Amino acid sequence: MKTIEWIGDVDGHLRLLDQTALPEKTEFLDCRTPEDVFGAIRRLSVRGAPAIGVSAAYGLLLGLKDVADTSREEFDAAFDKVSTYLAESRPTAVNLFWAIARMRDVVAESNDMSSSDLRQRLLEEAREIEAEDREMCNAMGRFGAELIPEGAGVLTHCNTGMLATAGTGTAFAVLLAAHQAGKNIHVYADETRPLLQGARLTAWELLQSNIPGTLITDSMAGWVMKEGKIQAVITGSDRIAANGDAANKIGTYSVALLAKAHNIPFYIAAPSSTFDLSLPTGESIPIEERDPAEIGHGFGRQTAPKEINMYNPAFDVTPAEYITALITEKGVIQPVTTENVAKVVAG
Ligand code: MRU
Repeated sequence: MKTIEWIGDVDGHLRLLDQTALPEKTEFLDCRTPEDVFGAIRRLSVRGAPAIGVSAAYGLLLGLKDVADTSREEFDAAFDKVSTYLAESRPTAVNLFWAIARMRDVVAESNDMSSSDLRQRLLEEAREIEAEDREMCNAMGRFGAELIPEGAGVLTHCNTGMLATAGTGTAFAVLLAAHQAGKNIHVYADETRPLLQGARLTAWELLQSNIPGTLITDSMAGWVMKEGKIQAVITGSDRIAANGDAANKIGTYSVALLAKAHNIPFYIAAPSSTFDLSLPTGESIPIEERDPAEIGHGFGRQTAPKEINMYNPAFDVTPAEYITALITEKGVIQPVTTENVAKVVAG
């Protein structure tokens, strides 16, 4: 099943598996305008750092239909407008800005191309971004599986599989590769409050892939570790700073601290498109704050008094010192230091 798909030629459209409908319904969303893609990213119909980047790359094409036969000045102005617009859809996952920058570089390097040829070239680039993401998932799976012990219980947080990428996933690719290598792993998935990406999406992916798994609530993670059921923790990331500090779904920081307290290795799997080497540490990673209704009125029912104050940061930052290793498509970064990040990611 393709979760992100460009349908047709340069005048085509973007089809997304609508993640807000899962696990009850498998519904696809046809995006024909940049506004459709912006809305899909903002309300998490498509989510997960790499998937957001791939969708935005295709989303740019949708904003260039009206300038197919215009001058390059008009084309470039339209590109600037749609890229600025899509860049505002969500703030934390750097893959969004990375994909837009890659598309912008193509425009900048093609001054001698007609608008019509450049549109074709941009579609090719978006397809390459998608194909490369798929390859990066496979490579992370190969590198990461070696770190997972035989028979391990592995805890994960949020959702990192085929829904969150164009391929088999980031952390999920590692779980899948370990499973396929016959390592007899058992995955514990945190439900991931408040939007339940673990319960709705990771549980669904585990079933789709026949990986043995158990769903727990976020607050059970420490006790399950204490009971000896967890031998490794692995998550994805939305943005990793030059020193290895890593932003990921809210709750990841707590899980990393719990892993440290129980002497359990804590891994993050992320492609190089998730690294933001312009930020020296995680302190300057922008953290998305979402509508408090997600906490107090989740999934159609009022679960807290409307009058209570609520705070809803969607991500947190795990300091590098709590991360045993970063698994990338270029290799494993261990120990996680500024030097090692630069060596593997920029090298
Ligand atoms: O708010 P979301 O669901 O987009 O958050 C996603 C995550 O935090 C994932 O763990 C992350 O993007 C990394 S792996 C795809």
